[in-house]
Amino acid sequence: MSNGATVGIHDLSFATTEFVLPHTALAEYNGTPVGKYHTGIGQRSMSVPAADEDIVTLGASAAAPIVARHGTDGIRTLVFATESSIDQAKAAGVYVHSLLGLPSATRVVELKQACYGATAALQFALGLIHRDPTQKVLVVASDVSKYELDSPGEATQGAAAVAMLVTADPALVRIEDPSGLFTADVMDFWRPNYRDAALVDGQESIGAYLQAVQGTWKDYSEQGGRPLEDFGAFCYHQPFTKMAYKAHRHLLNSAGRDTDEAAVEQALGRTTGYNAVIGNSYTASVYLGLAALLDGAEDLDGQAVGFLSYGSGSVAEFFAGTVVPGYREHLRTEAHREAVERRQPIGYDRYRELHEWGFPTDGGDHPTPAGTTGPFRLAGIGGHKRIYEKR
Ligand code: CAA
Repeated sequence: MSNGATVGIHDLSFATTEFVLPHTALAEYNGTPVGKYHTGIGQRSMSVPAADEDIVTLGASAAAPIVARHGTDGIRTLVFATESSIDQAKAAGVYVHSLLGLPSATRVVELKQACYGATAALQFALGLIHRDPTQKVLVVASDVSKYELDSPGEATQGAAAVAMLVTADPALVRIEDPSGLFTADVMDFWRPNYRDAALVDGQESIGAYLQAVQGTWKDYSEQGGRPLEDFGAFCYHQPFTKMAYKAHRHLLNSAGRDTDEAAVEQALGRTTGYNAVIGNSYTASVYLGLAALLDGAEDLDGQAVGFLSYGSGSVAEFFAGTVVPGYREHLRTEAHREAVERRQPIGYDRYRELHEWGFPTDGGDHPTPAGTTGPFRLAGIGGHKRIYEKR
């Protein structure tokens, strides 16, 4: 039961990879007019992990600045959300817990439901803090999006991690009740345990996403949520940035509203800056949208923001947040821009090599080629155990 405390996102930090592949290089390789990427799907480049980067190193890199600023006091739960899991049993968050030096009196768990996992993690965190407002929850959303080479999905890869400290009396965004929920058993995107790259039915996935938008909004309205006109901006899950535009137009149409393009741009344009150059970061994507919105030039004090989280398969949730007055003093805008700008551009051949790189599965000792200049690296694998180190 709620004890009346305001709860939400107190701090937010993201990290991305060492390398970046511009869509111009992909277009040049496969002969696609680059306009299809730049305009058609709204993507400029995609983050590519070095061989010694993965969801753990990205997640730890995103969360380390939060721990540096706030310390570990009160953090009793770490929820790690991912759909590109590296172990069928052990939670990736346990490695992050160790790399960050969190107290042993912490519960750590991994959550999965495609790109929706981080929103489930956030909602569970809110529940824990309602129960005991002195506690803090570290939510880490981390994913490497990977499709087959030469497939239509290839242009919508990317990788990033977002870490959020969820607390009572938050400094950035207060998250509100109610939520609109929607689940439907569809096979639009999935990754069987024996596969490294996801399988996807692209057009089916777009249709499933739009159906979920309509379903969540219907439930949100029935639960007594805010009217559409209340929202200053909308953060959608962005597998590619044009998907947010498709989704928002669909929401407006299905709610019987005008799809005035200037108003659509005003609602979404400020949320796409990081996603357009990082690519799909699966469960982190909607919160990269929030990071772009908060880091932007406009003052959002007191504004309501709508969040639409979609995870293929599918589960979706629509919820609202209010930007806390004074939030700008707590942002990490410079570090975020640096994370994007420090990436080294690579050509198609190097990207292809990294895409196909993987550890032998023989249980031997296999060090990882050095690549990352980030704070953490996957040093290798030995006896089937992943070995992480601080750089
Ligand atoms: N100039 C400008 N625009 C162009 C163009 C050109 N030269 N050529 C094509 N386009 C436009 C097309 O008109 C189209 O726009 P509209 O959808 O607005 O009509 C757009 O570019 C894409 O073209 P296609 O539909 O022909 O592209 P495609 O069939 O090659 O694949 C895709 C696009 C389905 C998104 C594919 O990249 C894919 O399968 N991606 C992975 C799945 C995905 O991201 N699904 C999204 C919903 S599911 C989800 O959100 C969960 C998740 O994270 C995976």
